[in-house]
Amino acid sequence: MNILILGSGGREHSLAWAIKQNPKCDNIFVAPGNAGIAQIAKCISVDILNATQIVNTVKEYNIDFVLIGPEAPLAEGVSDILKREGILTFGPSKASSQLETSKKFTKEICDACGAPTAEYKSFDSLEPALTYIKTKRAPLVVKADGLAAGKGVIIATDIEMALSAVNEIFSGSFGNAGASVVIEEFMEGEEASLFVLVDGETILPIGTAQDHKRVGDGDTGLNTGGMGAYSPAPILNEIVLNKTIERIIRPTMREMVRRGMPFTGVLYAGLMIKDSDPRLVEYNVRFGDPECQVLMMRLGGQILDALLSTAKGKLSDVKINWADDHSLTVVMASNGYPGSYEKGTEIAGLADLPSNSNFMCFHAGTVERNGKVVANGGRVLNITTRAATLIEAQKNSYEMIENIDWPGGFYRKDIGWRAL
Ligand code: AMP
Ligand code: GLY
Repeated sequence: MNILILGSGGREHSLAWAIKQNPKCDNIFVAPGNAGIAQIAKCISVDILNATQIVNTVKEYNIDFVLIGPEAPLAEGVSDILKREGILTFGPSKASSQLETSKKFTKEICDACGAPTAEYKSFDSLEPALTYIKTKRAPLVVKADGLAAGKGVIIATDIEMALSAVNEIFSGSFGNAGASVVIEEFMEGEEASLFVLVDGETILPIGTAQDHKRVGDGDTGLNTGGMGAYSPAPILNEIVLNKTIERIIRPTMREMVRRGMPFTGVLYAGLMIKDSDPRLVEYNVRFGDPECQVLMMRLGGQILDALLSTAKGKLSDVKINWADDHSLTVVMASNGYPGSYEKGTEIAGLADLPSNSNFMCFHAGTVERNGKVVANGGRVLNITTRAATLIEAQKNSYEMIENIDWPGGFYRKDIGWRAL
C-alpha cells in the first residue's frame, strides 16, 4: 500500500522508518519531510493544514492510508475532512482533539468521569482569576487554555508570579489560546507518559516513556519540546499502568463516547505518579516528539498493522509483540534553542553513522543543501539506540554522537539519569 505521513520532525522520521519495515508498505510519502526522511521516503511539498491540497495529493499518488503526525492539522479538522472524503486516516476528529487543544475541556472531562488530576478552577476573564489566586497558596500552576507551543504553562512559585501569569495570558500574548485560563494545584511526584491506541472503544497500550523537557543537564533551564527520552519508563510498572488505564484512560474514553465524540488515534497521557498512584497532568492526541522515536525503535514494523486497525475500528484484533528491550534518544539542538538560534549550520559525519534496528539517527530540523545536511530548526537530530538494558542504550547513543561533527549544535549529557 501507499502511505502518506504528514509532518517533518523526528517523530515522522521514526514513524516512516518503522512503517517501512512492514511488508504491507509499498511506498511512503511524507509531507513536507526533512533531509533524513528524504533518504527513506518521497518528500512532497504540501501545506499540511490545507485539507484540499492533501486530498489532491492522495489522489495524485494513489495513497491508501494517511497518518497525521502533529497536532496542528488535527486542531484544524484535517482528519474529519479526509475521512469525509472516504480516505483511510489515522488521527482523531477536531472535536475529540479538544483533549489536547483545550485544557479546560480536559479538566471538565476529568470532573465528569472522576479521573484523578490536579484540583483546578477555570476563568474566562481576568478579575475573578486574580481574586481566586489571592485566596490560594503557592506553588500554583497557571495554564493558557489552548495550544501555545509548549509555552502556555507557568509554574508559579509565588502568588505574585501567578498574578502576573494570568495578567499576561489575558493581555493577549497567547492569542486565542489565552481566551481562558486554568489555575491548578501543583502536583508533586515523578512524571511519565503512557501511549495508547484507541479506536473509539478498544484501548491498546503501546509503550511508556519519560521525556526531558528542560534544556539543561540536571533538568535545569528553560522548557523545550523535549531534549531526550527513553522507553520503557520504570515508574510506570504493570500496577501503575493498570491503574492509569482503569482510573484515567477508560473513564475518559467512555465520557468521550457519551458526548458523541469517540476518540480514535493515539492518546498520550502525561502523568504525575506519587506513591504508585497516577494523576493526569495533560493529554495529547498525537505521538510525543521525541517519545515516538524510542517507541518506534522498540515496535518496528508491527506499528503499521496497529495504526491501520485503529483507523478501521478493529483494534481488538491487534496484539503487540514486546521484546524485553530498552530504547533511548538524545536530541541534538541548534545553539541558542529554545531561544533564537542560527539556521544553515553544516552537520558533518552523518553518512558514516550506523543505521539499523538498534542504531538510528532520526532527523528533525534538517535540509539538504548542495549535497550537505544543514540545520534548519531548533531540534535537529535524534540519536536513538536500542539495547538489552537502558544503560547500554545510553552508552551507545552517546558513543554515536561522538561521530557527529556539528559546532552549531549541543545536547544534554544526562539523558536517562532518572531511571539510572
Ligand atoms: P503541560 O503542557 O500541561 O504538560 O505542562 C507542561 C509541564 O508543566 C508538565 O510536563 C509538568 O512538568 C508541568 N506541570 C503541568 N501541570 C502541572 C501540575 N498541576 N503540577 C505540577 N507540574 C505540572
Ligand atoms: N515531548 C513532548 C511532546 O511531544 O509534547
